[in-house]
Amino acid sequence: MGLALNPISSQTPLTVDEQEGLKIKGLATREELDQFEQQNIETALAGFLGQDVLLQDFLTEKFIKNLHFKMFNQVWKWAGEFRLSDKNIGVSWNLISTGIRDLLDDIRYWLNHETFSQDEIAIRLKHRLVSIHPFPNGNGRHSRLMADIMMEKIFKQAIFSWGALNLHSPLNGQKEYIKALKSADDGDYVSLLKFAKS
Ligand SMILES: Nc1ncnc2c1ncn2[C@@H]1O[C@H](COP(=O)(O)OP(=O)(O)OP(=O)(O)O)[C@@H](O)[C@H]1O
Ligand SMILES: [Mg+2]
Repeated sequence: MGLALNPISSQTPLTVDEQEGLKIKGLATREELDQFEQQNIETALAGFLGQDVLLQDFLTEKFIKNLHFKMFNQVWKWAGEFRLSDKNIGVSWNLISTGIRDLLDDIRYWLNHETFSQDEIAIRLKHRLVSIHPFPNGNGRHSRLMADIMMEKIFKQAIFSWGALNLHSPLNGQKEYIKALKSADDGDYVSLLKFAKS
């Protein structure tokens, strides 16, 4: 399943890229990194317990950045900050803010016109976010949590189960998930919705 406990992935050394901006000295392997990130995310989640989130606050660049910051600030210096260079995935770094603004405008439109069901709106948010890929890392986990916060705090619905995998750990290219994201790239959200609820 490519989870952190896989003995092969656990020994994967961090690449130079991955070490950039690491706050914790002496971290050498992917598994150690995953665990520190997971703890950080747990802390972020605890902060949301019993907290209301207003739609007007949720649909802002500030909320998106702040959530990433809360999830990763103990591990990464650049937590909560958009990329300043291009990656092989996502939009060119200088188009991130515009992309986010367009996405938030679209979501407001979908909500006002009831264009899609609530869970499809949350899934479209997740997919558009991960396609923009605003942050150097953590975009998968951040976008899944954004969708879950929308479900729970905005729509008062159950959160997604994301293939019953641990939300807090990276999915590390889980095949069914990546396949579903690719269908969503082609405008077909059925598989991603199904995966999110499986
Ligand atoms: N074609 C693709 N191939 C791989 N990943 C993709 C693709 N399209 C979108 N993605 C998303 O990008 C994510 C990886 O981005 P990033 O490493 O920033 O996030 P993460 O939180 O560390 O990873 P994960 O989603 O595995 O938890 C993938 O997991 C997936 O959510
Ligand atoms: Mg990653």
